[in-house]
Amino acid sequence: MNSKEFVAGLMEEMDRLFARLGETDTLESESEGQVDVVSLLRLALKSELEASELAGLWMPTTPEVEAKMILALQCGDEMRHYGLISQRLVELDFDVEGFDPLADGHSPLYQYLRGLRTTVERIAAGPFTSEAIAQVRNTQFVNFCRSAGDEGTARLYEDTIQPEEAHHHHLGREFLEKHCTTPELQELTAAAMRNTLAIADELRNLAGKTTGFYTLPVS
Ligand SMILES: [Fe+2]
Ligand SMILES: [Fe+2]
Repeated sequence: MNSKEFVAGLMEEMDRLFARLGETDTLESESEGQVDVVSLLRLALKSELEASELAGLWMPTTPEVEAKMILALQCGDEMRHYGLISQRLVELDFDVEGFDPLADGHSPLYQYLRGLRTTVERIAAGPFTSEAIAQVRNTQFVNFCRSAGDEGTARLYEDTIQPEEAHHHHLGREFLEKHCTTPELQELTAAAMRNTLAIADELRNLAGKTTGFYTLPVS
């Protein structure tokens, strides 16, 4: 299979999975049912921080300059999102100064991602898959904010954060379309995508709905 057909197949696979989500599934999954704007923004701080840290962590040990550029851009953007979300939390009267998003440690997804060694796995799991999940989650979050009457938070996501997550995903997709040229690379890429989908907090509720294909990896 050529690399473009291969990546198109991965996109279809992801879209099929996302199509099974209910309107607020990603929000309920990540927050364990605690669905209110401030709780969800606090969780978003953790996601942004982890995404930025990972991109920064991978940068020096990812040899391809083209991939370094994707990671460096992402590292900066995610930390800027962190700042924007913090500002919004202050506007909503939340004490950001006294809040440590990593007080409970890093997420299981972060632990999995930081162990990835090859460039295709990192780009597949990070920009390509995690950012696709972020887009689905953010779309649900924007709708939720509007239903809760919080237009300010909805606009922050719609106008600034969401287009940048889409850009990160797109850069990841382009990289994979160019570089996933052998069966070995395609195997690593597909596994990284599937593991990421299986571990992501936002998709946790899907585990009970699947046919068993997306189950937690043993390692
Ligand atoms: Fe972000
Ligand atoms: Fe992003």
